[in-house]
Amino acid sequence: MSAVSHLHPEARDAELRAWWMPFTHNRYFKAAPRMIASASGCYFTMTDGRRVFDCLSGLWCSPLGHSHPRVVEAIKSQVETLDYAPSFQMGHEAAFRLATRIVSLAGRPKDRVFFVNSGSEAVDTALKIAVAYQRARGEASRTRVIGRERGYHGVGMGGISVGGMVANRKMFAPLMIPGVDHLPHTYNPAEMAFSRGQPAWGAHLAEALERLVALHDASTIAAVIVEPMQGSTGVIVPPKGYLERLREICSRHGIVLIFDEVITGFGRLGTPFGADFFGVQPDLTTFAKAVNNAAVPLGGVIAKDEIYQAFMTGPAHMIEFFHGYTYSAHPLAVAAAHATQDVLADEKLIARAALLAPVLEQAIHTLRGEPHVIDIRNIGLAAAVELAPIEGSPGLRAIKVFEQALTEGFLVRASGDCFAVAPPFVSSPAEIDAMVEGLRRALRAVAG
Ligand SMILES: Cc1ncc(COP(=O)(O)O)c(C=O)c1O
Repeated sequence: MSAVSHLHPEARDAELRAWWMPFTHNRYFKAAPRMIASASGCYFTMTDGRRVFDCLSGLWCSPLGHSHPRVVEAIKSQVETLDYAPSFQMGHEAAFRLATRIVSLAGRPKDRVFFVNSGSEAVDTALKIAVAYQRARGEASRTRVIGRERGYHGVGMGGISVGGMVANRKMFAPLMIPGVDHLPHTYNPAEMAFSRGQPAWGAHLAEALERLVALHDASTIAAVIVEPMQGSTGVIVPPKGYLERLREICSRHGIVLIFDEVITGFGRLGTPFGADFFGVQPDLTTFAKAVNNAAVPLGGVIAKDEIYQAFMTGPAHMIEFFHGYTYSAHPLAVAAAHATQDVLADEKLIARAALLAPVLEQAIHTLRGEPHVIDIRNIGLAAAVELAPIEGSPGLRAIKVFEQALTEGFLVRASGDCFAVAPPFVSSPAEIDAMVEGLRRALRAVAG
């Protein structure tokens, strides 16, 4: 048992009271804390000594598994050499090299990278770039941004404004950016339940963008932001032809298309970016998470060269974009990113994710027919299982499965009445099969 669990309830409450935990049922958690002590490879070790398979690669962010020796070494050696460097009007070489590597991996060698520290910051930065770009090119009336229902774009004010997960928005309405509208989400279980990969139905839903353009007029719209695959809301896969259509409409109307690739960037779909998987290039791409295996916070925005150039107009001694963070391109985060990119390339792990994708697809769809399973979706090395809600208690069924799976030695992520898996790229086929069998046991155990 963990030290904290051993304590008398009052002492335990005192020990746990100060940390207000993020996206957590604080009272529920603190009554029965689940504490992680360490991590190595695909496994966490809990404070009671149990090993738990990391079914979601952390929070979609650690494809190499944990504490990869090359990443650990890179951070150690970096902290001894240069622990911090200001990046306002100063630079360090590794950050420039990393930006070059990222645009080259993305197949966009002429484009530019703006570094931030999280997915939320990447999204807010991309929205600012889009609106400022429109202004810089003489289209100052384009201030509106369009998101999508069920989208998750982090928790910044920009991100929740364009996001479409209701619980993340409803308390904060007065603070959100004005003039936002949303596309409909593309999930329709009647048409696409148990699809493997991209559903055939639904490309026409992109036409909703034409209607928003007709409603608001293109001259008011700066940008559209979508996740190529909606991860946090439960692996909602874009219908065939849908992203292509969005791209075409944005191009025709001078609207900046932003792909939020915080989950899909750096290999999750078995290609460097989601854009490569779907064959659709956006104008701005956000990334974070897997860029450095999440060992140190890092994110960024890839911007088309044309967008960057629109800012490069005034006197050369003037700052062109009034935006940035104290920790932008932090040396430890950058060192971890170089090591992560080295490992991804040397061990051909993106190709490995592509090879594991059918293994996951085959295994996860065997859960069809298990108690309360009403849909299963998958793409690349990611999948989600949708459960019928318990009447009157939305979300409770998935929490029960989550807890039971943890008891079985598998950490999944519950979101609403759905749970998602996205195992590390270094998982073996046997581990993926074992994960699905663990989930099957959990589903059956909480079937009542
Ligand atoms: C698509 C997407 N955008 C943005 C974010 C926010 O990232 P962060 O939690 O690093 O702020 C996430 C996090 O899961 C995400 O999935």
